[in-house]
Amino acid sequence: MKRTDHGLTWLPFLPQPPVHTLKTPRDMARAELDQARELLSGRQVDIDVNPDLGDGFTLTQDGAIVHLCGGESGVLYGAYRLLMALKARQELPLGSHAPYYALRMLNCWDNAEGTIERGYSGRSLFFEDGHLDYDPVRMRQLGRMLASVGINVLCINNVNVHNPAHKLIEEEWLPQLSDLASIFRPFGVRMMLSIDYAHPLRHGLDTADPLDARVAAWWQERADIVYRYVPDLAGFLVKADSEHRPGPFTYGRTHADGANMLARALAPHGGRLIWRCFVYNCLQDWRDTVTDRPMAAYQHYAHLDGQFEDNVILQIKNGPFDFQVREPVSPLFYAMPKTNLALEVQLAQEYTGQQIDIYAMGPMWKEIFDDLPPQRVMAMAAVSNLGRDANYTGHPFAAVNLFAYGMTAWDPSTDPAALIRLWCRLTYDLEQAQEGALHALLMGSRRVYEKYTAPLGLCWMVNPHGHYGPSPSGYEYALWGTYHKANRDAVGVDRTEKNGTGMTRQYPEPLRSLYENLDTCPDLLKLFFHRLRYDYVMADGRTLIQRIYDDHFEGYDETEALAQTLRALDLPSPDREVALERMDLQLKNAREWRDVTNTFFYRLSGAKDAKGRRIYD
Ligand code: GCU
Repeated sequence: MKRTDHGLTWLPFLPQPPVHTLKTPRDMARAELDQARELLSGRQVDIDVNPDLGDGFTLTQDGAIVHLCGGESGVLYGAYRLLMALKARQELPLGSHAPYYALRMLNCWDNAEGTIERGYSGRSLFFEDGHLDYDPVRMRQLGRMLASVGINVLCINNVNVHNPAHKLIEEEWLPQLSDLASIFRPFGVRMMLSIDYAHPLRHGLDTADPLDARVAAWWQERADIVYRYVPDLAGFLVKADSEHRPGPFTYGRTHADGANMLARALAPHGGRLIWRCFVYNCLQDWRDTVTDRPMAAYQHYAHLDGQFEDNVILQIKNGPFDFQVREPVSPLFYAMPKTNLALEVQLAQEYTGQQIDIYAMGPMWKEIFDDLPPQRVMAMAAVSNLGRDANYTGHPFAAVNLFAYGMTAWDPSTDPAALIRLWCRLTYDLEQAQEGALHALLMGSRRVYEKYTAPLGLCWMVNPHGHYGPSPSGYEYALWGTYHKANRDAVGVDRTEKNGTGMTRQYPEPLRSLYENLDTCPDLLKLFFHRLRYDYVMADGRTLIQRIYDDHFEGYDETEALAQTLRALDLPSPDREVALERMDLQLKNAREWRDVTNTFFYRLSGAKDAKGRRIYD
């Protein structure tokens, strides 16, 4: 079996309609259905557009006639859902469907010079050499891919806006941006731009103070110009006062002042202002035991609840640290009932294997949604894992995360196991047992990775900067506020109210007590919230040190089992070769993590492995 058109990721079964001739999502829906006659096997699909339905759609069936009624983009989403169900031999998705989150955003961290921050699948799809530079054919493939899973906002540039990416909102680049927006428009995808908070300083102003009328007027004029070129721009995305980015703190103003000023400039055009809450002290002195980095977002924002304009959305990372393998849900989600919030996840596998190690995220997001307070979040964003590699995601299996993200943002209650199965079936035509094996491999992949990396929610034992591979003390004396404080007796930061930094206080009940109390704190988060002695006895009778050893040995053994499963899979070429090559690297990585971590704790604790396995001295 050979995969001929790699650009189609999970849509290889759909013949490509002449997308470049189509102007609206409804035309696109029609064309997709016309091309897929074989799949429809005699069914006729009637399309009825009712603009009031927006992204929603209803599917009904009357004999061989299927009625698809939806909003302008709703009919396109309905068409893809119908075709995917047919291909996967599932029941037709009859009934009414509407997305849970109105904004389902993809945030690309692409730089104008063509690199991607934390990108693991090649160079940028949008930029090269300090310019917008894209292949329209790939843009249409991308638009189709995003629409097929309901993603409706695409931010193309890095939240760290490095020169000259600020030109995206300047006249020099706007005509080309306008062309790009019109490529994505028929797919129901609206563009968004990351902006530099200090941009007015480049245009003769001596300040970016949000309360200075000249600054507000400058942004208003800027927004007016941008919207002349891209009238349906979804809005601006801002990283301010974070990791050396400029922001309102320079002028003694709050983040409500900063966000509201920008939001007012966008409001006349229906634009949103997405303001990221990834704000913490990245110049911490490791001797400082009072500052506790995962408490920072709550400390900066909770007291501002209710002070934001209606078109501001605060974008909060899923966990209080930074996209680690296991974190509790950020306490900020519980603290701002009067503010629009967005949940941010990271598809780019920065800390989760860099698209070398297999890591399917659906089961992890399910845990987040189980804990997230209902009704408080109205949008979702994901840091993109896409790049210019032929298959878009480097590792062919990394595409499952983009697929599952779109479908999850549409309906967070969807079972991740079902999504992963659907992706397997759409992407590869495997026979049943093989499909089952691939499904099981993906479902278990996150837990395997977790076992061989930092134990029990401890986080941050990675190599600094690159974030791949182990370095147990790499961040221990650094400025980033990410310490585990392992010594010969114990490891972890006590974040309890009783004896520690008090982070548990940021959670409402029942989570506060759950995490505060060592007995009820879930094992997998024990070292996130507690400092434990190595001889601490866990509920299953094992000591902490034994649990660390066991997890690391198991993590490597289970990676070997994954490799075996992978070798036996009848994947098409070149996916098979790419996946096998990367599996060799994953095995090396897992072995390195196992041995470095076990040796690190053995040297500190002197505790022998109860099972007598080899730990290097
Ligand atoms: C992490 C990541 C950075 C990124 C930042 C962010 O710290 O390592 O590359 O800029 O997150 O989310 O803004």
